[in-house]
Amino acid sequence: MSSPVPQPVAAPLSRAAIFLTLTLGDGPDVDKTVRALCADLSGIKRAVGFRDLHGALSCVMGFGDAAWRRLFPDATPKDLHAFRPIDGVHHAPATPGDILLHLRATRMDLCFEIAAQLMERLGGVSRVVDEVHGFKYFDDRDLIGFVDGTENPTGPAIDASVLIGNEDPGFAGGSWVITQKYLHDLPAWNALPVETQEKIIGRRKLSDIELLDDVKPSYAHNALTSISDEHGNPLQILRDNMPFGEIGRGEFGTFFIGYARAPGTIERMLDNMFIGNPPGNHDRLLDFSRAVTGNLYFVPTADFLDAVG
Ligand code: HEM
Repeated sequence: MSSPVPQPVAAPLSRAAIFLTLTLGDGPDVDKTVRALCADLSGIKRAVGFRDLHGALSCVMGFGDAAWRRLFPDATPKDLHAFRPIDGVHHAPATPGDILLHLRATRMDLCFEIAAQLMERLGGVSRVVDEVHGFKYFDDRDLIGFVDGTENPTGPAIDASVLIGNEDPGFAGGSWVITQKYLHDLPAWNALPVETQEKIIGRRKLSDIELLDDVKPSYAHNALTSISDEHGNPLQILRDNMPFGEIGRGEFGTFFIGYARAPGTIERMLDNMFIGNPPGNHDRLLDFSRAVTGNLYFVPTADFLDAVG
């Protein structure tokens, strides 16, 4: 039997992205409409993407705990649960979200077009509760000015980090994704000396070189998010964070999105950041960045979606 075809969770980091978070209504046609869209998703993506083959359009559809159980009651991935809010030094809220559409391309018009086409199908049965249009800021930096994505897995480590394997054979090739929308207090962040910012992130700001162990604090963002399993093997996730903002509203943010083979990997990183490791030794980035949303979604394979009747 050939391996299941995953959704493009490992698509290359892109210049533009739209993140749509939807909640489903209760009407009689909801399930039928969503299931029909699942089966047509690859065709819609092909049609929009074909208008610019260099645009590298990709679309990932994820399902929250309640939505999955309602739409696909016959089989449940073993790790399925809702995003768990965290109350530590800082708060990570859980917010509504039944479906995530993660739309990426080299051009925003492609992302916008597919978002519009998908919502033409889903608009009557769902509500967009969050919509973020993300862009890449200069050389892959966040709005806090640091390069973001450097330590993502590469090569064969990508699939090994993000795709479910034999641990849940019925869902092999699927993935998990956690999203959080963060708003930055940029005036306060920018008032810090660059050396202090570098200690908070754990890397040099201009060159992006990692701080040496003897100067990197234990609270550095990359120290708290570097975790390993019981055998000492690193547990990696694939991030495709995007800056977003509205100058007029003074809103500057990072949309965090992390894919993983098991939700527990990202949840451990979040605990380290929000509660601290050891507790109290929290991620100082959170003193300047507030999480305002939080969702966990299961991402079935592309084959699964194609076969939805
Ligand atoms: C690394 C920014 C939230 C997990 C980094 C780096 C930056 C960064 C600049 C260093 C460069 C790199 O390796 O990519 C941010 C910002 C966030 C955010 C601005 C939100 C405000 C998160 C969250 C998680 C996370 C919520 C996981 C739950 C990681 C990991 C690394 C990393 C795993 C790589 C660590 C390593 O192995 O060196 N992040 N991040 N980040 N971040 Fe974040």
